[in-house]
Amino acid sequence: MIRLDKYLADMQVGTRSQVKEYVRKRKVTVNGNIVTSPDYKLDENSDEVCFNGERVGYVEYEYYMLNKPAGVLSATMDKKAKTVVDLIPSARKDLFPVGRLDKDTEGLLLITNDGQLAHELLSPKKHVGKTYLAHITGQLPANATELFEEGLKVDDEFTAMPAQLSVLGTPDSDNEYSGKAMVDEKRMAGEQVTTVHITIREGKFHQVKRMFQAVGCEVIYLKRLQMGPLILGENLQVGEYRLLSEAEVNALKTIKGDSNE
Ligand code: URA
Repeated sequence: MIRLDKYLADMQVGTRSQVKEYVRKRKVTVNGNIVTSPDYKLDENSDEVCFNGERVGYVEYEYYMLNKPAGVLSATMDKKAKTVVDLIPSARKDLFPVGRLDKDTEGLLLITNDGQLAHELLSPKKHVGKTYLAHITGQLPANATELFEEGLKVDDEFTAMPAQLSVLGTPDSDNEYSGKAMVDEKRMAGEQVTTVHITIREGKFHQVKRMFQAVGCEVIYLKRLQMGPLILGENLQVGEYRLLSEAEVNALKTIKGDSNE
């Protein structure tokens, strides 16, 4: 059951105060009858709501993939900084990001109002794989891949779960690529830069940065490429978002755990 004004506001008919006004002005029917109380309770699954004679169906959950830009906070609101939810302006008001990326991290962020799914995806028991592209400075130890695979001791309090590291090499200086400005700056200063992919299965605070720090390197650019079955892909530009497809939502809901699929 849901209040009529919430139903209409969730479905973007107007703000909560606008929709109250529409209801009072007899513009809204439920099952063909004019309803004038904004707090009227209805069954969102079976009752038929119309605004100005047009049917307004109810969608309970929404799922967006955002390509988060650097400089934006993974939060729902902040007094000063722009948040990831501010980047989806037309959307309903109960959205939140599933987990966090650091302010300076870019890439894939799931934004939804489905608390149950968020809880499952973030559950430490599920070990949902998260793959990042990182540009790092410093010299990686020759056995870095094995160290990460064995479970890296990050500090006295934290030993990471096994993580997969692929060293891709030095970034190509001619073409455009994510993080090029950061890479160019370090190179101008004479530093060596290496590009890697890393997959982790936890989400500890600054985890990827701390893992590289523990092996004597510094992450100068970080972007999430994949989370479980969700892949950022090439088409979504930084700052853009899109609705997930039904197949993507189903894939998220059927994650068994310990997966990058
Ligand atoms: N690891 C980090 O260090 N930062 C992020 O934003 C995500 C993973």
